[in-house]
Amino acid sequence: SAGRLWGGRFAGGPAEAMAELSRSTSFDWRLAPHDLDGSVAHANALLRVGLLTPAEHEQMVAELQRMRAEVLAGTLGPDPDDEDVHGALERILIERLGADLGGRLRAGRSRNDQIATLIRRYLRSELRVVLGSLLEVVEALADQAAAHPEAVMPGRTHLQHAQPVLLAHHLLAHAWPLLRDGRRVVDLDARLAVSPYGSSALAGSSLGLDPEAVAADLGFSGSVANSIDGTAARDLVAEAAFVLAQVGVDLSRLSEDVILWCTAEFGFATLADAWSTGSSIMPQKKNPDVAELARGKAGRLIGNLTGLLATLKGLPLAYNRDLQEDKEPVFDSLDQLRVLVPAVAGMVATLTFHPGRMAALAPQGFSLATDVADWLVRRRVPFAEAHEIAGACVRRCEALGIGLDQLSAADLAEVSEHLSPEMLPELTVEASVRARDQRGGTAPQRVAEQLAEVRAEAAAL
Ligand code: ARG
Repeated sequence: SAGRLWGGRFAGGPAEAMAELSRSTSFDWRLAPHDLDGSVAHANALLRVGLLTPAEHEQMVAELQRMRAEVLAGTLGPDPDDEDVHGALERILIERLGADLGGRLRAGRSRNDQIATLIRRYLRSELRVVLGSLLEVVEALADQAAAHPEAVMPGRTHLQHAQPVLLAHHLLAHAWPLLRDGRRVVDLDARLAVSPYGSSALAGSSLGLDPEAVAADLGFSGSVANSIDGTAARDLVAEAAFVLAQVGVDLSRLSEDVILWCTAEFGFATLADAWSTGSSIMPQKKNPDVAELARGKAGRLIGNLTGLLATLKGLPLAYNRDLQEDKEPVFDSLDQLRVLVPAVAGMVATLTFHPGRMAALAPQGFSLATDVADWLVRRRVPFAEAHEIAGACVRRCEALGIGLDQLSAADLAEVSEHLSPEMLPELTVEASVRARDQRGGTAPQRVAEQLAEVRAEAAAL
């Protein structure tokens, strides 16, 4: 039976539509190198208990290694009739070694523990790639922050002008979530580093194989404590899909800022030609497509996560074929980020900022009103009263069509006896930013220290 790992109890082969439904090689072939690594580790286990002789083992491992090299070279692939990656590789092994030797490898293992192991091992290596490119985005943000140590901009809440901040502070605020995503990858790796191999179909194997030794062979830190859990659980795949979705969401929020900054109305930044696109009809257009694709793909990554969770929610223990549906969503999330994250890094690294424009807008919208209130508080006015007074200043400025720093001595005296023109020289964006010098604040000194923290955390991941 072509690439089918079962058949003895069946009088005939599957219907064509059954076989087509069952076939997974179009997406699980990417696991073939891990499948072959697993087979080598399993052959080692069979050797240790005497189920392969040293000569058989040597011949089998050599063939498995050869197949692995061919898979990586792209010269070995599944046949149209193969059901899945496991069946295809065993068919090829038997074709090459004969049924007497090739047919011995499957003893004590099942596709159920194989696939549960392969997906963990695959995720471990792929998530490391995501982490690497994520750190490129962090580095781009850190480099931009370092290049603009003093530039100020309007800080916003509710998208309204709130208080001035340093551009560097804002850029690093996008770096921290990405660093936490990186930390999530590292944390998740410790959970992924537990091998289900040896769980067999669900109950473990009777052949005396050592799952801990197989786990060590495959670079895992240990093997599962429960063979049912080992074959049936996919929470770690869902967790990977979550981490990837969160990366998408964090890149999407960064991208939304970039999209706004590059509008004529903001005018805070300009995209490099290499990281933007034009319009087929409007000759002047320069569009932030990288950022928009980041925003768009975040929705797709969220869909992959929620779809997978929905697949898992009603499944009884242990293995069910539904579990095969874990792969395409998480593969898609990885495939999307593999292309997207480096592009976001390139876009950020090559953004040109316009500090003059940002500085001109920073004091607008009465963004120094909190500084008026804080000035009063330092003169022992209760904050609630100071808030009222500063609010009254804003109301008066609005009526007069002027900024807070343009209030006359008479205006100030009329608003409150606590106010005086001494305050006015302190009412600048630079002073406002410099004053916020507690840990975590936007003062240049604090932001410089924060930048060093960002770089240190990136280096530690
Ligand atoms: N292709 C399956 C999966 O991805 C693994 C094979 C288990 N199949 C089975 N009939 N027990 O989950």
